[in-house]
Amino acid sequence: MTDTATQPIGIFDSGVGGLTVMRAVIDRLPGENLIYLGDTARVPYGNRGAETVRRYATNAAAFLSSRDIKALVVACNTASAFALETLRQRLSIPVFGVISPVARLAATHSDTGEIAVLGTRGTIRSDAYQQALLNLRPDLNVHPIACPLLVPLAEEGWLDGAVTDQVLARYLQPLASTEVDTVILGCTHYPILRDAIAGATDALPLPKTTLLDSAHATSEAVAEALGEAGILNQASATPGERRFFLTDLPDGFIDTAEQFFGCSLRGDCEHIDITDTTSAAASSTTE
Ligand code: DGL
Repeated sequence: MTDTATQPIGIFDSGVGGLTVMRAVIDRLPGENLIYLGDTARVPYGNRGAETVRRYATNAAAFLSSRDIKALVVACNTASAFALETLRQRLSIPVFGVISPVARLAATHSDTGEIAVLGTRGTIRSDAYQQALLNLRPDLNVHPIACPLLVPLAEEGWLDGAVTDQVLARYLQPLASTEVDTVILGCTHYPILRDAIAGATDALPLPKTTLLDSAHATSEAVAEALGEAGILNQASATPGERRFFLTDLPDGFIDTAEQFFGCSLRGDCEHIDITDTTSAAASSTTE
């Protein structure tokens, strides 16, 4: 095993949603050392312009690079849509986004050739999912739907109930006249609303639909690529070290994150200013 193998993998998201991806990486690669960065001071990215998202993602990548990571996972769909190429050009380590892995899964899964993509305004406007899917399977009929109200609903913990159901029914109504059999949850927060989204697709006259999210597919892509490069931390019999950095620590944040994502953050969560990457030092901790 090389020294590189024991270096951490960096995982970055606009906020807490990327913990769904981190959870999947932990399950797939338990021995890996991981550093999570949530840009909670600047969340949400989903309604921002491409240039702004690229700048934020570049700040985040610079911070994580200063921690000597061996690979970077851009867990945020909006950042993957707008900033992946920029980050790949700037960094000399493998950089993984969350769009290609789940697009590959969806393209092979769909029988009818009709796939819906739910995402933030930015992700849908970028066309990144549509392009990834059509590159894989030009015969596909892709139905992109921006669902900007779903992130606040998930963060508020409104995972079911009348309001959430009404919002979903309205967003998904255009699918009623389609043969969609595969729905991509193209945003870190949407797996949290999986049951409500499944209820909304079940209420439509669709073929049997499957909901796919990026977390599992991305962790597989990371495992495969790092395995091929010979830099997996396989020798470790004990669970890897996990560290969490946040650019803001809102009240109740840790409780909410632990409740939603099943990761223990307490005692490991540090507050960091990534706009000043020259210092790149934690300014306070929750310990
Ligand atoms: N992480 C974002 C994404 O997956 C959702 C939250 C946000 O808008 O920042 O697109």
